[in-house]
Amino acid sequence: MGSATTPSTDRRTAVALFSRLRTPQGQADPFPLYEKLRSLGEVSPAPWGGFVVTGYDLCAALLRDGDWLEPDKEWRARQGPRTRWSAPSSREISNTMPALNPPEHTRVRRAAGSFDRTTIQELGRTVEGIVDGLLDSLAERLREGEADFSALVSEQLPIATIGSWLALPAADWDRLRDLTHEQVFTQELLPSASQLARSDTALMELRAYFLDLIRHRRTHLGDDPVSRWIRTWDAMEADRDKADEGVYFLALFVLLAALETTSTLLSAMVLRLVERPERWDLLAGSPDLVPAFVEETLRYDPPTHVISRVAAKDGLLGGFEVRADDMVHLMVGAAHHDPARFPGPERFDPSRNVTQHLGFSGGIHYCLGAPLARLEAQTLLRHLVRRLPRLTLVRRPPMAPRVVFRRLLSLDVALA
Ligand code: HEM
Repeated sequence: MGSATTPSTDRRTAVALFSRLRTPQGQADPFPLYEKLRSLGEVSPAPWGGFVVTGYDLCAALLRDGDWLEPDKEWRARQGPRTRWSAPSSREISNTMPALNPPEHTRVRRAAGSFDRTTIQELGRTVEGIVDGLLDSLAERLREGEADFSALVSEQLPIATIGSWLALPAADWDRLRDLTHEQVFTQELLPSASQLARSDTALMELRAYFLDLIRHRRTHLGDDPVSRWIRTWDAMEADRDKADEGVYFLALFVLLAALETTSTLLSAMVLRLVERPERWDLLAGSPDLVPAFVEETLRYDPPTHVISRVAAKDGLLGGFEVRADDMVHLMVGAAHHDPARFPGPERFDPSRNVTQHLGFSGGIHYCLGAPLARLEAQTLLRHLVRRLPRLTLVRRPPMAPRVVFRRLLSLDVALA
């Protein structure tokens, strides 16, 4: 049996790898760093405590294993008052769906509803309209020279889609999107105190915004999701303030979950498209390859590279002794390049027709918004290659220095 004590060279290697992963350069190409991490073993102790897992099958299994839980409110409280887990933003996030465990998670997830086929069909028309408008602006900008695809399209489509769906005033969209970028640090791997403070401030503003919106929506109940959630929570909860809190945490998380992740998927997908001329030509000639192109993007470079869980009880993980409450970081970005699961993982190849990956997680927390994210990505890609002549990459995109949530800060393209 192994032990949780790492040989000091492995520990030094892991420290160096994570330091590099947290830089813009490391994020520009994290895959060689992941390979070095994998060479330490499928499971290795994290330098700051807990474990990291790089093997695909083990990551997939842990996501479906009821002995591995979300770091919920109680777990966060047990970490003590002077840790990142006691920050106001961490406590706020601990009330949202992906930080709940059964039975509370089951109750909230059921109340949230899902994107069924009819909803997706209706949203499909909205998304088509938004994509058309955004591509008009892009085409206009491209006539004058290069254009930042990220700012003009990737950052716009998700907020316009979710904003329309939740019936949020369009005048609020830019601010809401900025706040979602600000809150993300509290969900990052190793946030600094100043980053946590930014998350705290952003979440305070988002709380005030949504509670206000819900109070107003109560007096104008309609057919939108927020109105439906109000009716559902009123039926579940006698106390009106508690019902409003329930609706708030759901609306909040849908907004947080839907924006950066989808923007990153759109930009990562278009980066793959424009960095090789033959890829554009292939898709333009065979638009039926669009869904496979989107799935291969989610495999090759998913928006979320790390998913974390905590141990429900003492046990063993890859030969290491694990104590109840230990945290494990599932390195999904690395697992997607596990050669045992995806041969030639460094090759971006839509024809591998990936049917399973962990880009939307797995098990009971499988992403609720996956059908919507796919709808946006596929619609954009289809319209892009149909409407525009081939685009080319002007320069490699700068990346945000993060580890969990990937973010392309810009994506400069031009007519080829
Ligand atoms: C490309 C875009 C997206 C990606 C990569 C993504 C990824 C994920 C991942 C990895 C999780 C699971 C976290 C965990 O296991 O702890 C998750 C959960 C979730 N996502 Fe997404 N997401 C995307 C878009 C969306 C959208 C558009 C929505 C809503 C409209 C959404 C709503 C949710 C919700 C509500 C959960 C929590 C599910 C639960 O805990 O049961 N996501 N997402």
